[in-house]
Amino acid sequence: MATTVVCPGSFDPITMGHLDIITRASKMFDNVIVLVSCNTAKTPLFSAEERMEMIKKSTANLKNVTVDSDDGLLADYMRKVDACAIVKGLRAVSDFEYEFQMALTNKKLNSNADTVFLTAGAENMYLSSSIVKSVGKLGGDIKNFVPDVIYDDICTRLKSC
Ligand code: PNS
Repeated sequence: MATTVVCPGSFDPITMGHLDIITRASKMFDNVIVLVSCNTAKTPLFSAEERMEMIKKSTANLKNVTVDSDDGLLADYMRKVDACAIVKGLRAVSDFEYEFQMALTNKKLNSNADTVFLTAGAENMYLSSSIVKSVGKLGGDIKNFVPDVIYDDICTRLKSC
């Protein structure tokens, strides 16, 4: 049976760290859905449509990756698409408590929603969307932090903030 997994996140915007996790997941599973989800604790800078478009451009070469958005519970979305696992990246110990809490909550809400953690690549350990926005807004070079194909889009957008 074909395996479908979901890589959820805010992706505000997608970073090289996200792309690394998505690329590695695409080699392990048959279908990967990158899901722009709602994090009630965050106010995104980019609209869901903008974030989806940036992910589509960044993953255009990965044929088994699709992009979607959802503003409901991840546990319900997992049921809707019949996915077998949630795939998330873990950067450091500081991520662990938050990710562990979400993994257990999702499992409680949907007994089929298991979470698979991939260790972030050493070169991306420090990277986050917040760092990218913070550096970019202050005129720093974010070239090494985001996929090449969306670099110009992000710079233009950050300058207008
Ligand atoms: O990139 P983020 O912001 O750390 O991702 C967190 C996200 C969006 C995956 C999480 O907030 C989420 O799953 N949101 C969907 C709504 C939901 O199911 N909330 C309960 C999570 S336990």
